[in-house]
Amino acid sequence: MSFSVLCNNLNDTENLASNFASAVKNSGAFVSMFGDVGAGKTAFAKLVCKYLQVKEKVTSPSFVILNEYKSGEIPVYHFDLYRLENEGIKTIINELEEYSEGKILTFVEWAQFSRDTLPFDRIELNINYIDENKREFIFTAFGAKSSEILKRLSV
Ligand SMILES: Nc1ncnc2c1ncn2[C@@H]1O[C@H](COP(=O)(O)OP(=O)(O)OP(=O)(O)O)[C@@H](O)[C@H]1O
Ligand SMILES: [Mg+2]
Repeated sequence: MSFSVLCNNLNDTENLASNFASAVKNSGAFVSMFGDVGAGKTAFAKLVCKYLQVKEKVTSPSFVILNEYKSGEIPVYHFDLYRLENEGIKTIINELEEYSEGKILTFVEWAQFSRDTLPFDRIELNINYIDENKREFIFTAFGAKSSEILKRLSV
């Protein structure tokens, strides 16, 4: 299951994030995010946190690799693997599966070179930069849980 949404501006992205938050808040989700620098991976994760009522300030986890937010409707884990070398990414892949289970929301921003197939239920989100304000969001579900979420999101 796959579908794409064109966001003409940040306001459209905010609406999409609000719908996404509603679609995941009862189940949790693992979201593997791809897109060039400045595509909007962190922006989308931040907006979803906003609609899950996360109280903490949401920042890019580039320097710390993982940020955790526990104040919202469900726990949110936000990884940014941009700074990890290939070897480091191999070690973390085994740990990531735990973050795909249970009622938690996990976002992972990947470095471009590390685009690997993951062996567990997840949503892949590709964000394409079209122009300064316009982005295409392409969601693809791998697994039953993620397919259910995308069904809720696409209606
Ligand atoms: N429609 C839109 N959707 C998302 N972001 C937008 C949109 N229009 C403009 N932007 C801006 O694009 C920027 C996206 O930056 P962001 O840090 O989210 O990118 P990123 O994909 O996380 O990059 P990096 O690889 O550096 O982590 C933000 O400044 C955001 O305000
Ligand atoms: Mg980012």
